[in-house]
Amino acid sequence: VSQTRVEKVVSPASYAVFGNPIKHSKSPVIHRAFSEQFEHELSYRAVRVGLDDFEAAVERFFDGGGSGLNVTVPFKERAFALADEASPRAARAGAANVLLPLGDGILRCDNTDGLGLVRDMVANNGWNVTGRRVLILGAGGAVRGVLQPLLGERPHSVVIANRTSTKAEVLAKDFADMEVPITGGGYTELEGQTFDLIINGTSAGLQGDLPPLPANLRVSEKCCCYDMVYGSEPTPFMRWSAAHAAWAICDGLGMLVEQAAESFYLWRGLRPATGPVIKDLRNQL
Ligand code: ATR
Repeated sequence: VSQTRVEKVVSPASYAVFGNPIKHSKSPVIHRAFSEQFEHELSYRAVRVGLDDFEAAVERFFDGGGSGLNVTVPFKERAFALADEASPRAARAGAANVLLPLGDGILRCDNTDGLGLVRDMVANNGWNVTGRRVLILGAGGAVRGVLQPLLGERPHSVVIANRTSTKAEVLAKDFADMEVPITGGGYTELEGQTFDLIINGTSAGLQGDLPPLPANLRVSEKCCCYDMVYGSEPTPFMRWSAAHAAWAICDGLGMLVEQAAESFYLWRGLRPATGPVIKDLRNQL
């Protein structure tokens, strides 16, 4: 058998992201860019999975020789539930965005969202989280998913504010053992308070809305504002941040690329360069 013949028979490693909706996913472009850095041949598809079909689709994918999966909205909790084992950060989040087969039919899950957020703030933007007074807006899955790595940076304190204040209270209680003072409540409780780092983890921006921040909420002199959402235009929260003279403002595009890079590392043991990929994506927005 000639060399060419063998190469044709052996198919490249196969990856995918499962979500619903999935049409606008940038993950295939990001992972193609990563694989080109190492001249690896692999396939990465975005798959829209029916709401009733997730568990069966995961099984089919790995039975068919799939090498790794990303999982996005609304399946992250179900990905965690179906995995045989979980990383500590995925266990904390109760949600996973990465699945990897360990052999013998064993599936491990992980959650790279929080690390992605921290890397984008600290390594890419040069922001400090350590020792800072952090405000997090929102108390849904996106926020729960990032809290452990964020608290691991040892901020001075964390306040979680949410429209439904009880959800913020529950979340704060769930992470109260991490040696960082953490409280949760509603937006009115923010009146007169000052923060050094504000992270928007609500989905309000997707509908063009701003979370109901009180008028007398203060940003400190070097306050950084991060929106986990991104788009071609500044989000409402980014515009609010600019109007309040935030020192630095960033959207979530870099977080997306960083969580993907950590997924790639978990699957393939190599760390792709993220800077050029973020730059290319930014130009394409
Ligand atoms: P995700 O996975 O994106 O976190 P989610 O779990 O549905 O999705 O959470 C959405 C978050 O955005 C919640 O914190 C939600 O607040 P409620 O818990 O009070 O619903 C918040 N959110 C969505 N739209 C909002 C708006 N217009 N103003 C303020 N908060 C909003």
